[in-house]
Amino acid sequence: MKKRFQKLLAIGLAVAMTFSLAACTSGESSSSTAGSTAAKTEAGSGKIGVAMPTKDLQRWNQDGENMKKQLEEAGYEVDLQYASNDVATQVSQIENMISGGCQALVIASIDGESLGTPLQAAKDAGIQVIAYDRLIMNSDAVSYYATFDNYMVGTKQGEYIKDTLDLDNAAGPFNMEIFTGDPGDNNANFFYGGAMDVLKPYIESGKLVVQSGQKEFAEVATADWSTEKAQARMDAIIASNYADKNLDVVLCSNDSTSLGVENSLEANYNGEWPLVTGQDCDVANTKNLIADKQAMDIFKDTRDLAKQTVSMIDAIMGGGKAETNDNETYDNGTGIIPSYLCEPVVVTKDNYKEILLDSKYYTEDDLK
Ligand code: BGC
Repeated sequence: MKKRFQKLLAIGLAVAMTFSLAACTSGESSSSTAGSTAAKTEAGSGKIGVAMPTKDLQRWNQDGENMKKQLEEAGYEVDLQYASNDVATQVSQIENMISGGCQALVIASIDGESLGTPLQAAKDAGIQVIAYDRLIMNSDAVSYYATFDNYMVGTKQGEYIKDTLDLDNAAGPFNMEIFTGDPGDNNANFFYGGAMDVLKPYIESGKLVVQSGQKEFAEVATADWSTEKAQARMDAIIASNYADKNLDVVLCSNDSTSLGVENSLEANYNGEWPLVTGQDCDVANTKNLIADKQAMDIFKDTRDLAKQTVSMIDAIMGGGKAETNDNETYDNGTGIIPSYLCEPVVVTKDNYKEILLDSKYYTEDDLK
């Protein structure tokens, strides 16, 4: 695990240096390696399979709805499935999409390592695959990857902590705890790696102190990105470390983990409320942002990701090449997957109205 992460960290560093300015606007074309035997397809017609991980988390419902709506508007028939975070269910849904006549697949995987067999069948049938948000590992059936800049999500969380605590000038030390996501989700490595690239020097110098001692990826991972598991771990950390100490900051890779942390703090912690980071701008977390229980969030506009993915589908179905803007970061074990990275945006109590309400992502009523 450690070795794998070191490799990913190295990749992450390369991303930081090469693609720190990557955004939705800087596109270029790239060729695809898979699906060269595809049966004749046509842009704007045919059936597309969309496999989403779970309905339990707000964002995937939004992703699924956006994808369905935008694909239908572009003229496609859509088979949209959610798999209750169960790998076997997702595998059988993908098999059914292939046998049911889908001509291209868009997949947000539950476990990026588990789709080799069904995707080999897709490749054999000439069906191209787009990895959506999460990279599908060790399968050469993946033509493209559409996602947000995952490393940048982590660095933005780290930089928020660095700037808000003024780590270069303040005396400190500050107490910090760390929560990241599911080890089977390649994104978790990038979120954690990006944040730790910013914060590690301060941990090493003693300005940031992790009282629990839990710092390595394997120690701070949260299986299934589960709110309950994050909450239980935070309960234990508070009980053993923060009965008589202040906790200054909790780095959480996403909103489902920050929600667990915030629930635990509310129930068990008596000190000054810490800075808590997040990602996704889920309704519950945006409400906590407004109520000063979460300091920042990362907004990933799923409408933009859907739009980009639909244009990849159009290119694939029309027999052409899709627009990409990163052709070196994401190696899935079979080679680099040409990627399109959208840009994540920092949201705080100061700018949430402009970013979430003015863009009509939410209405004021949604956040009441
Ligand atoms: C996504 C995050 C999401 C997490 C849990 C990650 O792959 O990029 O936006 O919060 O999964 O569902």
